[in-house]
Amino acid sequence: MSLIELSVRGDDRGSLVVIEQDIDIAFDIKRIFHIYGTRPNVPRGKHSHFITKQFLIAVNGSCKVTLDDGFEKITYELNQPNIGLFQDALIWGEMHDFSEDCVLLVLASEHYDENDYIRDYEKFLEASQ
Ligand code: TYD
Repeated sequence: MSLIELSVRGDDRGSLVVIEQDIDIAFDIKRIFHIYGTRPNVPRGKHSHFITKQFLIAVNGSCKVTLDDGFEKITYELNQPNIGLFQDALIWGEMHDFSEDCVLLVLASEHYDENDYIRDYEKFLEASQ
């Protein structure tokens, strides 16, 4: 299962979610980015990576993420700030159906490198089989 439930340390002051390397996610975090200001009918992603692994959390609002291993596509809904989705290397991913208030936080295992992107679906199928 790619969805991971993170524990919520809450009290009457509010909620707090922790993500710890080697405890909650199984890769070293080299990069963090977040996506916001998206539009409902405008998908993002539509690519895979040769080596980068990612962990995605909708820390506000909601979106859907479709992961595709070349054989099967599974769509996950991210709509809670304590639910993360693991996207392994060589998995095609598309983010879509963003709510207006969605803030999608992404933790990545590698620094940004355009050479690690596979943006052509046929090339992804070749690389992943
Ligand atoms: P892009 O990969 O198109 O976003 P998406 O996650 O929707 O596929 O990235 C958008 C722009 O941001 C593009 O110009 C590349 C740049 N970018 C970086 O400079 N560093 C990063 O870590 C990422 C993820 C993107």
